[in-house]
Amino acid sequence: MPGNLPTQPTRSGRVLASDRGSSTAHRPALVLAEAARAISAVALQGRSADEALSPRGQARGSEGSAAAARAAAMQSAIRAVTLGTLRWYLRLDAVAAILLAGRPLAPALRGLLVAGLHQLEFSRGRPEVTVSSAVDAARLLRQPRAAALMNALLRRYLRERPALARRVAADPVAASAHPAWLLSALQESWPDDWAGVIEADNAPPPMTLRVDLTRLTPAAYRAELARHELRGVPLPWCPSAIVLGRPLAVDQLPGFAEGCVSVQDAGAQLAAQLLQPQPGERVLDACAAPGGKTGALLEASAGRVELTAVDSDAARLARVADNLRRLRREARLVCADLTQPPAWWDARPFDRILLDAPCSAVGVIRRHPDIKLLRRAEDITALADRQRQLLTRCLSMLKPAGRLLYSTCSLLPAENERVFETVLAQLPRMRPLSVSELLPPALAASVRRCGYGIQLLPGSAAGTDGFYYACATVT
Ligand SMILES: C[S@@+](CC[C@H](N)C(=O)[O-])C[C@H]1O[C@@H](n2cnc3c(N)ncnc32)[C@H](O)[C@@H]1O
Repeated sequence: MPGNLPTQPTRSGRVLASDRGSSTAHRPALVLAEAARAISAVALQGRSADEALSPRGQARGSEGSAAAARAAAMQSAIRAVTLGTLRWYLRLDAVAAILLAGRPLAPALRGLLVAGLHQLEFSRGRPEVTVSSAVDAARLLRQPRAAALMNALLRRYLRERPALARRVAADPVAASAHPAWLLSALQESWPDDWAGVIEADNAPPPMTLRVDLTRLTPAAYRAELARHELRGVPLPWCPSAIVLGRPLAVDQLPGFAEGCVSVQDAGAQLAAQLLQPQPGERVLDACAAPGGKTGALLEASAGRVELTAVDSDAARLARVADNLRRLRREARLVCADLTQPPAWWDARPFDRILLDAPCSAVGVIRRHPDIKLLRRAEDITALADRQRQLLTRCLSMLKPAGRLLYSTCSLLPAENERVFETVLAQLPRMRPLSVSELLPPALAASVRRCGYGIQLLPGSAAGTDGFYYACATVT
């Protein structure tokens, strides 16, 4: 009986079966049970998906490489169900509410019901197998009395699916699977583009690589991919970018461990093209962690710049160090709050500054669907306040005729052009630089101009995540 599965309690109270216990037959129920816990941790307790999915304390392949591979496959299946469910949570939970008709359900069971609905709606598995896995998962969650209820609810869903779909389609939040505040902010900011943004947000993102052009050519790397039966497509406007035909774990990527390639959306790779660090220059990477753009800046300048990477989060800064070690690149790493006077700074101004400011991250929802559930409208004012402080501080460290690039992965003008324009208006020596003139010509038609800056929108022809970029100089 699945209810008698040997389970291994973990520090986080999880029920992931030990490697020995997780036979192939039991796997779908275990995946659903673990996903249910992660989903309820995000949707009902406000934890991030990364935190909720952290493998800390789970079985880790202590029994050799076959067990490690099984544990990794299990983890990846749990992640896929969790992120898929979170992507559609606001629609699926509306269906769950109709099915439950006010009946209370423990948080993990609510997560399980929504995950089960996701699997019925979006997976290619046979519906009766999904239903019986969800029933087994309820037992694994130590809720045996809820097993019959889970069975009844999911079977009712299968019987009444068209009528339920019609009911939730009438509600814009459920139909778009976006919270009301974000939906209206997108409609107001992007009246011609919001529907494409929503569609892109709800689709699994492509996996894009950044090739270190100082170490190999994109053609050579694509040939290497082909030798591993992998397909990579180049992007005409971004020489370092290769879009993979299908996503895969980084440890299966040729050259990843050696630092020849990194995973980075092409929209993020644009930062190095816009900042154009030159050999010998002093470069500040402000808000650098986990170091995606730090690596890109060092590769773009063949490492011939003096780069200082600053971040206020020590744990995240440690990831910059890890990344640079893998890339075989060097930078000075500083843990400091950039809203405070810079005690770490020697008062010599920087030639180039990248300020990749903390933001709502609503431009990267397709990669982090939990943002739709975690972010609130009222967060935006506080974020914009901090962005203005950071931008003001960074501009004070810029050399005359130097270049500062302000970037966010937000789609909201309140965090983008309004921040940039307000700060520049208060600093008479600062001048905006036209980003349009710095853009690769093949990208120009796919961006939206907003004030002095540009916006990349998910769902546009560029195929990137959402980013805002604006440039300033000082006279
Ligand atoms: C958008 S992320 C940066 C991503 C990074 N540039 C990359 O490409 O990997 C924003 C970063 O700002 C950092 N941050 C937030 N407030 C800060 C502050 N007051 N001073 C310095 N760093 C800050 C956060 O810790 C976070 O790592």
